[in-house]
Amino acid sequence: MTKKIYKFQSLDSTNAKAKELAQLGYPHGTVILAKEQTKGRGRSGRTWDSQKDSGIYMTILLRPQMVPDHAHMLTLVAALAVAEAITVHTQTHVQIKWPNDIVIGNRKVCGILTEMSLVDGKMDYVIVGIGVNVHQTTFPDELKEIAGSLYSQCHQHFRRKDIVDGILSQFEQYYAIFFKTQDLSKLKDVYESYLVNLQKEVRVLDPKVPFLGIATGITQNGELIVDTPQGRKLISAGEVSVRGLYGYVE
Ligand code: BTN
Repeated sequence: MTKKIYKFQSLDSTNAKAKELAQLGYPHGTVILAKEQTKGRGRSGRTWDSQKDSGIYMTILLRPQMVPDHAHMLTLVAALAVAEAITVHTQTHVQIKWPNDIVIGNRKVCGILTEMSLVDGKMDYVIVGIGVNVHQTTFPDELKEIAGSLYSQCHQHFRRKDIVDGILSQFEQYYAIFFKTQDLSKLKDVYESYLVNLQKEVRVLDPKVPFLGIATGITQNGELIVDTPQGRKLISAGEVSVRGLYGYVE
């Protein structure tokens, strides 16, 4: 993947900028970075706290030649790349809360927002937006129990550039492996080695009937495998959310 990185002082959202550039025909591998976001986007319509110079706000534009049904797995590929890069850089125990939150010591230090665009039902582009909390010491009240930064968790200030370089180079490697099979069959084991939910009891917040079960791994399509007294259930990312029994991950 040839990467061209575009850096901005301030953007409303690197995902919004990436979409704009995608529509102008920018190629696979384009990377957008901003020092701050004024309207950082989180999942489920939430905002992403994006104070100036505190975190990494980055989006990778991809034009994968694959059926749209497989694209959601890119978000797990990105989570793996971020987990690996942060592990190498901080030498800390980093985990992934399925499907794509990066956790250190029960605090979410990174979120990933993947968005896809189709033309006539065919893949046009995918953007993978990655937000890493690096230097933050405070968070808004509603995030206080959940969010952390590399600084709050490791008591060290890391250089954002080194982490960005690490994420991009890991992502490139994992993307190539994923692309060959167009599933997670070759990445499942390493993903599970980071999975905070593994062999833990989880609450699946299914909007119809929430239920409890033990998470035992992921499928090669990236679903979470949850064993319940009623049998095995496969949970698709995006449809439901998974929580620990006593809080965000535990
Ligand atoms: C989440 O809610 O967990 C996902 C958060 C994703 C935030 C990143 S920051 C860079 C990119 N641009 C955005 O507007 N959002 C993503």
